[in-house]
Amino acid sequence: MSVAETSPGFLDTSVGKKVVMAVTGIVLFGFVTVHMLGNLQAYMGREALNHYAEFLHTMVHGGGIWVFRGVMLAAVVLHGWAALSLTLANRAARPVGYRAQQYRAATFSSRTMRWTGVFLAFFVLYHLMHLTVGTCHPSFDRADPYHNFVTGFQQPLAAAIYVVAQVCLGIHMWHGVWSMTQTLGWSHPRYDTCRKRFAYVMAILVAGVNISFPVAVLAGVIHL
Ligand code: HEM
Repeated sequence: MSVAETSPGFLDTSVGKKVVMAVTGIVLFGFVTVHMLGNLQAYMGREALNHYAEFLHTMVHGGGIWVFRGVMLAAVVLHGWAALSLTLANRAARPVGYRAQQYRAATFSSRTMRWTGVFLAFFVLYHLMHLTVGTCHPSFDRADPYHNFVTGFQQPLAAAIYVVAQVCLGIHMWHGVWSMTQTLGWSHPRYDTCRKRFAYVMAILVAGVNISFPVAVLAGVIHL
């Protein structure tokens, strides 16, 4: 039997899977940050948000959004695959007795990541049906994303789902940014405070600004 047949490939190792999680995590982190900045245009009114949405749908002769969707889909699938296989591998290696308590403490954050991650996956499906396709929306108008935004968040249940999802996003990002910078080798006493602050600030910023959208609609600050 050759070495190639017996030794695992990079993606079969837990380091390989963690690198996949970190790299796809950076792509998703970049997306949620840019998406949050883009959505800020809702505060500037109908024309600004609709103009921005039109730009997204027509960039590179309409091909840009499909390239973006392909990259996003690949990132989400690979991120989920790496998370699931790391979880299964951890479970198989679960210690008993003396080390069990240490194990429980170490996995508190990974459990939080797992549940916030699963919730976010369901949220993204709901969000696409709500504001992109319109199947979960009370009065969807394909030509008017601003109208969809405002009337969508005027429903308290939908607004509440978004708020809970953004809290999950904040927790997920906070731990995710911290772990991915560790996986990529940026863990050093000199940078650790900086890494920690960056993770906190970005998580609170993205989740906080996103929460402000449904709240602003319900408070009548953003209106038709
Ligand atoms: C309160 C927070 C959010 C608001 C107000 C919001 C708003 C929107 C709007 C208006 C669209 C439709 C754009 C259009 O097609 O005209 C959209 C699309 C999308 N959003 Fe969000 N979003 C929020 C949070 C998120 C989060 C947290 C994620 C991911 C974790 C996300 C992922 C997406 C994706 C993947 C699309 C589809 C883009 C496409 O392929 O057309 N959004 N969002």
